[in-house]
Amino acid sequence: MSQFYKNLLGNYKIVDLSQYPEMDQGEKGRYLLESHEDYELVLMVWGAGHETPIHDHHKSHCWTKLLQGSLTERIYDKDCRLLSENHLEKNCVNYIQEKIGVHQILNLGKSEAITIHLYSNPLKTFHLFDDQTQTWIEQINEYDLIPKELL
Ligand SMILES: [Fe+2]
Repeated sequence: MSQFYKNLLGNYKIVDLSQYPEMDQGEKGRYLLESHEDYELVLMVWGAGHETPIHDHHKSHCWTKLLQGSLTERIYDKDCRLLSENHLEKNCVNYIQEKIGVHQILNLGKSEAITIHLYSNPLKTFHLFDDQTQTWIEQINEYDLIPKELL
C-alpha cells in the first residue's frame, strides 16, 4: 500500500453521519466520497445483520478501514469454498484483490458498522455469486449517494 493511500485512509478516523442526511439508518448505504482517475473512496454503512453476497473486486485492489462497529469477512476461492474467516475491528485496515480470493462481508453484531473503502483502480464493475442459480453475475458498481460535485 503506498504511503499516499495510507495517509488517505489514516485521515479518516470518525465520520459524522449527519453529513449524509439521505442515509437510510439501519440499511446498508454506499456513498461515494472521492472519485479520481486511479482511485476512489467510498463510505459504507452496514446495518446490524446485513451481509453481502460473495463477490469479487474485478481487477481492483481494495483496502477497507473499519471506523465503527465490527464486521466479519469470509474469504472464498472462485468455487466458493471457504478459505478463511477474519474479524474486523475498529481502525483495522483490511485488503483484498483477486489473487487472495473473493469475499463476503457480514455484520453479525447488534449495531451499525461503518467502513471506508479505497479502490484502486476505481471499481466500475464486479461479479457476485448468485446462490439460487449458482452462477456469477456481473454488476455495475452503483452508489446510493454521489455528492453533486462528483457528478
Ligand atoms: Fe468487497
